[in-house]
Amino acid sequence: MGGEEGLVTAAADAEERAFEAGLRPRTLAEFVGQRKAREQLSIMMAGARGRGHPPDHVLFSGPPGLGKTSLAMIIAQEMAVPLRLTSGPAIERAGDLVAVLTALAPGEVLFIDEIHRIARPAEELLYSAMEDFRVDVVLGKGPGATAIPLDVAPFTLVGATTRAGLLTGPLRDRFGFTAHLDFYDTDELTAVLTRSARLLGLELRPEGAVEVAGRSRGTPRIANRLLRRVRDYAEVRADGIITLEVARAALRVYDVDPLGLDRLDRAVLTALVKRFGGGPVGLTTLAVAVGEEPDTVEDVAEPFLLRAGLLARTARGRVATPAAFTHLGYDPPADPLGRSQTLPTPLFEPGFEAGTA
Ligand SMILES: Nc1ncnc2c1ncn2[C@@H]1O[C@H](COP(=O)(O)OP(=O)(O)OP(=O)(O)O)[C@@H](O)[C@H]1O
Ligand SMILES: [Mg+2]
Repeated sequence: MGGEEGLVTAAADAEERAFEAGLRPRTLAEFVGQRKAREQLSIMMAGARGRGHPPDHVLFSGPPGLGKTSLAMIIAQEMAVPLRLTSGPAIERAGDLVAVLTALAPGEVLFIDEIHRIARPAEELLYSAMEDFRVDVVLGKGPGATAIPLDVAPFTLVGATTRAGLLTGPLRDRFGFTAHLDFYDTDELTAVLTRSARLLGLELRPEGAVEVAGRSRGTPRIANRLLRRVRDYAEVRADGIITLEVARAALRVYDVDPLGLDRLDRAVLTALVKRFGGGPVGLTTLAVAVGEEPDTVEDVAEPFLLRAGLLARTARGRVATPAAFTHLGYDPPADPLGRSQTLPTPLFEPGFEAGTA
């Protein structure tokens, strides 16, 4: 990722993770939103409990900060089993994975974050571990090599990825349950904020909560982060109560625009609109124009811009929608006929509700 430390990036640093830990929902009932995934998970866990078996392996995909890690922890919590955490990049060799797998207690949840980044030989070991609860450890090399089968206790693998598209087919197929987490709407984020304020002992007025929610880019992590900043402002510049006015004033100070766009989002949109006349332009060219890696533009900025109906992907490249022109304070193109040939239906409905500032 491209070093963006902004207030509304979805990634979290160490200090923020500590703060988040205190706000993490502990049970499915406390987990706001993602109704469908929650219902399916709850049925799956009840079924597993009834049979006295660990639940199926679960894969969570979706943009950062939407609750993948939280759900993994909730599964362990609700099944009353231990949770072991690791990540794809930490598993560089097959041996690393064998060590983890053979140490699992029966029923344990093994959480592998960023599972798309797991080393290939380790991934192949995972296949038999997931399917047959067995790993074959190969000793020696060449014709004299022998495979020693080792038993693995029945466990539940929970994988998380921001890039489901990078998972290999064989790995994806071995998950019995897959949930794609989607951005939250303003009502859901308002509920997240109300809960966080209660846990932090803050006085957050309903209109203040809605205002912060509307600028949180559909992401609970960002909502909680904005709440901290708004709290600071309320304590220093006001009487500590987060009203609509206080929330607006605080967010103005922190440069969070009414749609919650950050520097990178605005840079991408501005380049599209000003330098490329609204597109279409290829991802790589667009990334060069904003001085970022194509991956960063694609994974960090685009999901929300698509969701907000500001950008669309076409076979010929990225295009800015008329809403993007308007949002940046430009008139949409004067030649709507010419543009309509390149303007496709957005992949996502522009259903995001803007804040009201
Ligand atoms: N549905 C939710 N209800 C309440 N709070 C939530 C919810 N989802 C996420 N959060 C809050 O957002 C924070 C980030 O969530 P989490 O760490 O689970 O995201 P993630 O999807 O694992 O992100 P990443 O891809 O960066 O690992 C949590 O600590 C929690 O405070
Ligand atoms: Mg996570």
